[in-house]
Amino acid sequence: MPIITDKENKVFNLQTPNTSYIFGIYKNKLPLHIHYGRKINGKINIEDVVSTERVPLSPVYKIDGEVVCEEALPLEYPLYGSCDLRTPAFHARYADGSRITDLEYTGCNIYKGKKPLSGLPATYTENDSEADTVEIFLEDKKTKLSLTLKYTAFSRHDAVTRSVYLKNNGTEDIFLTSVQSASVDLIGKNYNFSHLDGNWACERNLHTVPLENGNFYIDSKRGASSHMFNPFMMLSDPKATESTGDVYGFSLVYSGNFSAGAYVDSYDMTRASIGINPFDFCWKLAPGEDFQTPEAVLVYSDEGIGKMSRTYHKLYRTRLCRGKYRDAQRPVLINNWEGTYFDFNEEKILDIAKKAAETGIELMVLDDGWFGKRNDEKTSLGDWFVNREKLPNGIEGLAQKVEDLGMKFGLWFEPEMISEKSELYKAHPDWCIHVEGRRKSEGRNQFVLDLTRDEVCRFVTDTVAQHLENAKISYIKWDMNRYITEAGSQSLPSDRQGEVMHRYMLGLYKILGELTERFPDVLFEGCSAGGGRFDPGMLYYFPQIWTSDCSDAVERIRIQHGTSIVYPFSAMGAHVSASPNHQTKRVSSLDIRGNVAIPGQFGYELDITAMSDEELDAVREQIKNYKKLRDIFHKGDLYRLESPFESNGAVWEFVSEDKNTVALCVYSMMADMTRGKKTVKLCGIDDDAVYRLEGENREFSGDILKNIGLNKGIYFSKIEDYLSRIMIFKKVKK
Ligand code: GLA
Repeated sequence: MPIITDKENKVFNLQTPNTSYIFGIYKNKLPLHIHYGRKINGKINIEDVVSTERVPLSPVYKIDGEVVCEEALPLEYPLYGSCDLRTPAFHARYADGSRITDLEYTGCNIYKGKKPLSGLPATYTENDSEADTVEIFLEDKKTKLSLTLKYTAFSRHDAVTRSVYLKNNGTEDIFLTSVQSASVDLIGKNYNFSHLDGNWACERNLHTVPLENGNFYIDSKRGASSHMFNPFMMLSDPKATESTGDVYGFSLVYSGNFSAGAYVDSYDMTRASIGINPFDFCWKLAPGEDFQTPEAVLVYSDEGIGKMSRTYHKLYRTRLCRGKYRDAQRPVLINNWEGTYFDFNEEKILDIAKKAAETGIELMVLDDGWFGKRNDEKTSLGDWFVNREKLPNGIEGLAQKVEDLGMKFGLWFEPEMISEKSELYKAHPDWCIHVEGRRKSEGRNQFVLDLTRDEVCRFVTDTVAQHLENAKISYIKWDMNRYITEAGSQSLPSDRQGEVMHRYMLGLYKILGELTERFPDVLFEGCSAGGGRFDPGMLYYFPQIWTSDCSDAVERIRIQHGTSIVYPFSAMGAHVSASPNHQTKRVSSLDIRGNVAIPGQFGYELDITAMSDEELDAVREQIKNYKKLRDIFHKGDLYRLESPFESNGAVWEFVSEDKNTVALCVYSMMADMTRGKKTVKLCGIDDDAVYRLEGENREFSGDILKNIGLNKGIYFSKIEDYLSRIMIFKKVKK
């Protein structure tokens, strides 16, 4: 029973297999946070476990004649307006100009399963036994604002989801200025704060700072979750490692402006919160209107960062990603972008496809430059009609010819954008996001379409749908290559301009919902100048995302390692590109380029017609190897044994679902003169079993691999830069 309610004490214990999230209703009115961590089965009396003492200087109020000192209480959903003067989760402005909210508990609803969130991506269940949900109803008596705290506890994943639903039942407008999806007051202040930051082509580096009194937060104001920060934070015991210690993950199922942070107060408490960025957010809730926040997914692990990651991987892979390709194996692809850039025609694409088909590649993806007058980055976004000079037989003709080669055909789109030099802009100059009388800044020479407008969303949906209906297109790469500036919409009244950034996301989610439903057989891959929108919101629509525009194998070790803190390898688009690499100019072997890309959703992004016969043979081998191993990488458990953020390499251990196979991916960036002086201990394997290393006649006992470890010297037979190896261990049958 994942949710235990103690009706008498009004305590709710949300249990997952190994964790409990507990809160209670203090004095019948005020929700207090009690515990998030190891599983608890005992009965709780709030006053036994929560200190309700008054602290000096703090303002107080009374409930039923008894003093309540909010400032020193762990609040379940902190509001601005009374005695808690820490950073609130909720802030609103009312018709009389006041900003005071006073919510009281009015009841609850507990049910099996989990309902979808209206208009927003979210985790889901496939049958009601997979989770239990509790909704806590709160009401502001003066304004008749009702607020529902929604929680779901999964019965097979150590994850709890939270979101907030609001309804204005009053007669006057309410302006929401901050509605966080989750806020948790953790007791104690000795936490490290970790997050994933970066930039274009170097996304999701793992960074950790010790928390001090005060605020530490990360956010996006860019209209996309962004390359700079990911909508994720982790609070952990400073001594926590990959395999030990207490770790709390907070991940937001959202692709737009977010904020995630922790506030350490003066009473030894740490308030963690995550949600839509309150900066520049102002949502008018007119009488009768409602508002649903995005979902936050909370994961607690008492076995370090690795276990938290594995919980996210499994939950996101199986209960966030959807559609046919959630479980189905996806095709090995070749993308022409780094092979030709804009300089291609039908003949060139077919030459690439022919060579690719000979090696076992299954999908030919035509990237940017097939439409309008687009021969560089300066023009034509929005003019999604084929360029017949390059492709005389149209997309239909080309797609058919690719199909005739026994391959599938895929196409690049950047549907959210409009170039100033385009027919679309001439016809609809007001369709881009902008503010009249202000500059329209360009990003990659383009503007962003105003997806707060229904007619623009319709145009985008119909344009993509038409292509999908007219040609045999099996895959779409959905790109988005600039951030939103001068956020304003010509279709919204002045008192709704603070809604633009969130309405944009709602418009986008509606488009993606319709297209993925109408075309269930099409594989969609997300992209945003590489990994600028690699977030759980996108994973709900796209089961894979192009991880980064940096395709250099050595850089990718770091990028994929950082990405794996939250996201499974099954979600990471990973391609072998040419050497020297186009972004870093680094020269590296085909071997390491393959070994780094193979754990992800594998493909090639180079001019395969320029490869030698020897290289083509190696490509054939890589594809065979990938197909043999992909289920282990995509469905197995990941243990990160060595981090490129702390060392000269990385070791990723993948253990198959049946635990019979271990794939050890070993990377060394620079020549390591100390090789052989280190050991790496394997995890998640059987102590009593014997494992045979494939390709070599060597056997190792599980307890040795686990407790003594493998001497790193056996990985490589040479010392040089950029070494890599994928070692396969099979359990020997007894
Ligand atoms: C972005 C993508 C690339 C490629 C180009 C095309 O940068 O991340 O993979 O599709 O756009 O313009």
